[in-house]
Amino acid sequence: MYLLPRVNLELRSRLLELKPGIRSVSLQNPRLRGDQISFNFTAEVNGDPARYELDGRIEGDAIAGSAALSGKRIRGRLDWNAKRIAGGWNQVQNRKALAMIFGTAARKTSHIAAKFCGVFLVTGFVSAPAFTQDYGDTPYVPTPQNVVDKMLEVAQVGPKDYVIDLGSGDGRMVITAAKKYGARGFGVDLDKRLVAMGNRLAARAGVADRAKFYARDLYETDVSRATVLTIYLLPEVNLMVRPRLLAMLKPGTRIVSHDYDMGEWTPDLSLILDAPDKPVGRDHRSKVFYWIMPATVSGKWRWQLPVEGKPLNFELALHQNFQNIEGTVEVDGRKVAIEDAKLAGTQIGFSVVVNDNGASLRYQFSGRIVNNAIEGQAQIMRDQAGRQLAWNATRTELWEPAHASLKPPQLPQMPN
Ligand SMILES: C[S@@+](CC[C@H](N)C(=O)[O-])C[C@H]1O[C@@H](n2cnc3c(N)ncnc32)[C@H](O)[C@@H]1O
Repeated sequence: MYLLPRVNLELRSRLLELKPGIRSVSLQNPRLRGDQISFNFTAEVNGDPARYELDGRIEGDAIAGSAALSGKRIRGRLDWNAKRIAGGWNQVQNRKALAMIFGTAARKTSHIAAKFCGVFLVTGFVSAPAFTQDYGDTPYVPTPQNVVDKMLEVAQVGPKDYVIDLGSGDGRMVITAAKKYGARGFGVDLDKRLVAMGNRLAARAGVADRAKFYARDLYETDVSRATVLTIYLLPEVNLMVRPRLLAMLKPGTRIVSHDYDMGEWTPDLSLILDAPDKPVGRDHRSKVFYWIMPATVSGKWRWQLPVEGKPLNFELALHQNFQNIEGTVEVDGRKVAIEDAKLAGTQIGFSVVVNDNGASLRYQFSGRIVNNAIEGQAQIMRDQAGRQLAWNATRTELWEPAHASLKPPQLPQMPN
């Protein structure tokens, strides 16, 4: 989330203007000596006044320096990086520097929260009240309504769906799903005021019975009921949440994320759209990422098909990394790689081509995974002729998918 308000340093007017046009704060002791610049100002962090002391060196179009912050509940130092834009200077988010920020955020339990706190103060520290919050891993930034609409459209939300929004803000995702598509669901957020607002807005929209909001940590939320899960969280938070989603969501659950992907888990679909009402970023565009929760299919599978009056044995060794699958089938003592392999939720499909006395025999399998069984059809094509048979496979060995060994991101070490 590039929560970078445009920071225009107008030294002549002694004003540090923070855009998008929300408010300005007066600079105290602004100094420019050669290429050294320094100034102080006071602004609110999480409702408490805090003093910022910025000190840096101007190099061409960039300022590099440090910022000291002291407030009632927050204290520390972080890198300060700014770059010149037309008419002013813009804060630059320095991820490396942010990772080293102090740990006095309200939530001691999460280092990421402390990191977020750094993001917050670097980027959004005097933005509008709507963008401030008490604590949490991800600051509150509402998804523009046209992006909400697109996300729900991509997920093909319908009246049978149960939509869960992790970090639900003012509740717009679940409320829209309920109002526009007749879905049900809930959202969780750490910010009680936003939760109350969500419930109020749901009542106002006439969907209070179908869209509910709870003050709850997303890491402690049972998401297993979701058929659609939506997120607009920081990239690291997506990676932190990813193992929970993989462990808890039912295969076939659709996941839609605003702006950030899930690292190694490549999306099944992604798109970019205009978002004129987006309160952050400069290009007023949003990204939407979409995944279908894959069933666990890795392991060994066996089945038989009657071919020319005789049962033919198949053994498939299937490897899986998220929704990507590959493997080999042993048929009639010969091993062949599967082709065109696809896994979408519980739907699996692949083909196998074997050479049979000079002729090529193509088996096309498609079916649905139900625990340790696959039920579907096999299409057998010899030259132009084809026939269809029932396909019933049983898993004889269950292997851990490759993605299960991926580690969540390393949390930054916080100085004392
Ligand atoms: C970027 S906003 C997204 C709001 C809403 N989903 C939307 O798209 O409009 C992220 C929200 O996540 C909430 N949040 C951050 N960390 C959280 C946590 N650990 N548990 C629950 N909510 C959290 C924040 O309070 C904030 O409202």
